Amino acid sequence: MQFQVFSKPFAQLPVDCLVVGIHENGELGDEARQLDRACKGALGKMLAHGDFPGRTGETLLLPGLPGLKATRTLLVGQGPRGAVSRRDWRKAVRAAVTALARTQVRSAALALARPADRDLDDYHFGRAVAEITHAALYRVNDLKTGKKPKPAALARLQVGPAGTKGSGEALRRGLVHGAAMGLGTRTMRDLANLPGNVCTPSYLAARARQIAAKYRSVSVRVLDEAAIRKEKMGCFLAVTQGSDEPPKFIVLEHKGTRTKRAPVVLVGKGITFDTGGISLKDPGAMDEMKFDMSGAAAVLGAFTVAAELALPLHLIALVPTCENMPSGRAIKPGDIVTSAAGLTVEILNTDAEGRLILCDALHYARRFQPEVVLDVATLTGACVIALGAHHTGVMANDDALAAEIVEAGRRSDDRAWQMPLTEEYGEQLKSNFADFANVAGRDGGAITAAAFLGKFTQNLRWAHLDIAGTAYLGGAHKGSTGRPVALLSDFLIHRSSR
Ligand code: BES
Ligand code: MN
Ligand code: ZN
Repeated sequence: MQFQVFSKPFAQLPVDCLVVGIHENGELGDEARQLDRACKGALGKMLAHGDFPGRTGETLLLPGLPGLKATRTLLVGQGPRGAVSRRDWRKAVRAAVTALARTQVRSAALALARPADRDLDDYHFGRAVAEITHAALYRVNDLKTGKKPKPAALARLQVGPAGTKGSGEALRRGLVHGAAMGLGTRTMRDLANLPGNVCTPSYLAARARQIAAKYRSVSVRVLDEAAIRKEKMGCFLAVTQGSDEPPKFIVLEHKGTRTKRAPVVLVGKGITFDTGGISLKDPGAMDEMKFDMSGAAAVLGAFTVAAELALPLHLIALVPTCENMPSGRAIKPGDIVTSAAGLTVEILNTDAEGRLILCDALHYARRFQPEVVLDVATLTGACVIALGAHHTGVMANDDALAAEIVEAGRRSDDRAWQMPLTEEYGEQLKSNFADFANVAGRDGGAITAAAFLGKFTQNLRWAHLDIAGTAYLGGAHKGSTGRPVALLSDFLIHRSSR
């Protein structure tokens, strides 16, 4: 998919289709009015019939209008006239691309009202268009044997008009970044959508090697079980011991140019299937636990964005990955193991496995003397209860870092919400037999999970992203959402430019 910036008036664009935003009751915004003048009122006259109500996201494909170079026109509803919200604008762009993808249109230009949001400058505008377009064109990598639908003909999308040289540059930069974010998001979704018998820890390691082979700035190391044992990752080993699949610990490193700064470390939970172990889960929606490596997939996705854009920063991705299975060799409730940090943990519930693999990975992060460490994990059902599917949960031992993440989520429309991580929560992890238990009660479950990780991140600037509610959808639309790749990418982009 190619993105371009135009500076000519809409009417003179020689594209297959011009996408025109129409407000409710057929009212015209500034862009549509400009076009209406160019086609001598033909657009307004047609809308006067009332055939197109202009509700947000509604579309109608028409032949070209007289006086316009484009051979077709696609009307897109943009809701009530006046301030278009960012959410409605995204919905309209998405609907337009989805409608275009069903046609033979190869090139298109957007003439939509821009959202009345001062934050959405030319850069973020271009970025959002590219990123929404990629998301709308995404096809699930299913394993159905029937004939695959033909890929969309759409190959070129133009945005503008760029009034000044500066705005053209910002738009272009945004489009490049948005396209990279599209690639990173697809990387995540493709991995997370694969079933657990295909996307195993070894598969994730092979995928990491592929990423490293593609970019000069990237190197990779994969620790196998023996190397993991050498690192004394007793908690990680405890989780994998019930499984026949060998565990892997993936270390990816991107060294951008001109950077001697301490690295940013991203850690992703890579449980390729979570049965709960001996504390077995209900069969209900257990298939969805193939998505329990979404944190790992998100980290690989965001890492890809940084490599693709050659961001000038030092970035390290750590992915502990294994299965959580019940078996004769599996850990049992009450078992006590020793983490890489030397602290002992009483495993009261084998289904609280994410924190066990993460605590050893977070300890491993210390050797890089990182600027900041972010872990990303489908960690708790409690986070889904707290925030639903709309916000990723953020917990941190540094409020400025948490604010930076929430801000990145706002800018990239991949929202996150901070939850409190005060001392009391950590006190709930008391054990009679070990330094800590791996679970506290039901109450505040998302935060007590974070508090467990907090025991291993003292003196690091650390934040935890619980994506249990945001990383994938269940039900009819079951599948990976690609979240929070956009948030993480924005975080890295902003960090590398300061
Ligand atoms: N992978 C799950 C968390 C999860 C649950 C993600 C539902 C998405 C949807 C995690 O390993 C888990 O099982 N957590 C337990 C923790 C509990 C035993 C303290 C949970 O949330 O029930
Ligand atoms: Mn679990
Ligand atoms: Zn899990």
